[in-house]
Amino acid sequence: MTDMTDITIRPLRDEDIPELTEIESESFSMPWSADDFRHLLEVSDAIYLVAVSDGAVLGSAGMRIICGEGNIDNVVVRQSARGQGIGTGLIMSLLAEGRRNGANAFTLEVRKSNTPAIKLYENAGFESAGIRPNFYERPTEDAIIYWLRDQDPTET
Ligand SMILES: CC(C)(COP(=O)(O)OP(=O)(O)OC[C@H]1O[C@@H](n2cnc3c(N)ncnc32)[C@H](O)[C@@H]1OP(=O)(O)O)[C@@H](O)C(=O)NCCC(=O)NCCS
Repeated sequence: MTDMTDITIRPLRDEDIPELTEIESESFSMPWSADDFRHLLEVSDAIYLVAVSDGAVLGSAGMRIICGEGNIDNVVVRQSARGQGIGTGLIMSLLAEGRRNGANAFTLEVRKSNTPAIKLYENAGFESAGIRPNFYERPTEDAIIYWLRDQDPTET
């Protein structure tokens, strides 16, 4: 059991990548490669965070910001560390960091059957905006599209 007070959430570093690719492989049928992560360190519109405890990487979450919209493309927690609030900590930190960098709307896709992730995003305020049929491969599955839009202060 990991105590959340022992968790640090900080930007991705090159030395995190081997552990991160291992977590990807245990979590996804089409995991990101080390090169995919290395590329993120080189692009200016990417915000990528990792959760670390005792020097070990336990999860990550990231987005690209395009025209003020944060496209969240990867959220994952090591299997043995799930259900302890780390995913929630990562997504809340990612949203805060996105807002600091000018994003005021956030979007992501999730497999229709992925109950833990759906719960995580809905708890964070995301709302379903439709289905992308057969969006995922291995196995083929529909995606639910989610959006979280910050209120426009000029709206009444
Ligand atoms: C989705 C994921 C990142 C959540 O990480 P986590 O650290 O376990 O999340 P948290 O502990 O913060 O829990 C978030 C919510 O999900 C719920 N949850 C966690 N595991 C669950 C499970 N097995 N079944 C149902 N709900 C679950 C929690 O209860 C919590 O909701 P609550 O606060 O209302 O109780 C993690 O399950 C994961 O890495 N899954 C595999 C990768 C993945 O599918 N990523 C999302 C791609 S879109």
